[in-house]
Amino acid sequence: MSAALKEVELSGKSGGRAAPRHFLELSDIDSGSLRRMVDLGAKAKRGENLGQPLAGKTVALIFEKPSTRTRVSFEVGIRQLGGHVTTLTSKDTQLGRGETPADTARVLSRYVDAIVLRTDKVAKIRELAEHATVPVINGLTDVSHPCQLMADVMTFEEHRGPIAGQVVAWTGDGNNVAQSFIQAAARFNFTLRLATPPELAPPTDLIAWARSQGANVELTNDPYAAVKDARCVVTDTWISMSDEKGSIRTRHNLLAPYQLNQRLLKAAAPDAVVMHCLPAHRGEEITDEVMDGPQSVVFDEAENRLHAQKGVLLWALGLA
Ligand code: CP
Ligand code: NVA
Repeated sequence: MSAALKEVELSGKSGGRAAPRHFLELSDIDSGSLRRMVDLGAKAKRGENLGQPLAGKTVALIFEKPSTRTRVSFEVGIRQLGGHVTTLTSKDTQLGRGETPADTARVLSRYVDAIVLRTDKVAKIRELAEHATVPVINGLTDVSHPCQLMADVMTFEEHRGPIAGQVVAWTGDGNNVAQSFIQAAARFNFTLRLATPPELAPPTDLIAWARSQGANVELTNDPYAAVKDARCVVTDTWISMSDEKGSIRTRHNLLAPYQLNQRLLKAAAPDAVVMHCLPAHRGEEITDEVMDGPQSVVFDEAENRLHAQKGVLLWALGLA
């Protein structure tokens, strides 16, 4: 092997740079960096010119599960920052046919400057990141959705000011988005009250981690207790992509008391905002009246994926 090839073999696309900044879980990243990303997102939304910092760079987006917002907001945001995108679904990658995440990482690191992955198992994205010489960004797994939380924090602050010290209530399934909310409570210093059926409570080790970080995270089975005085009420689908093989009727029966409807919203602070990561199943976890009502900020929240992820990309690429 020539010396030049050996150099490439050893260093990959990163050219011997320091370890890449992966955006895998909020718990992996310090509060100051997360704050910088959200603030950059807000700056981007205000129209302050971020320039073309991704000029000459390419980002690979890999979706092993469906997506509307994550895919389009990353594609558009990367182009707006001057970069190029290549998007793959599991139908058109060898990852979907059994190539290992490690080998995929080694190869893609030779072509692109960052990788966004939406997948099922967290072990897969961890393996990809371990072997990539470029940053890996978590576009959702069965247990987390950190990009969503960056947009959610930005959205709350846009409407109600700093989130630190505020009370946020979650009602419904203790799913991947709920679990990222728990991590966000620790990193952004807000109180989080989660109301879930006992069977669908978030993992106890995650709650213990958040509390060990000083976070105020409370669990209940009573959605009315959770929303009391809350300035933000959040819910999500009763059946996540990872639950599609389970019994729909059982989940609906368990989750029906947690529906975000007008009666529940009235029990929150009078100026509470309503958030939902979308896609929503109207008439199930959230009623039309609430979703389309004056307290709903769900479409700003969807828009803010575009802006907040610019902050994530710039941080991950060492440009912020
Ligand atoms: N909220 C969210 O991630 O939406 P998509 O599944 O459409 O990407
Ligand atoms: N909890 C949902 C979020 C979708 C963005 C799911 O995983 O399907």
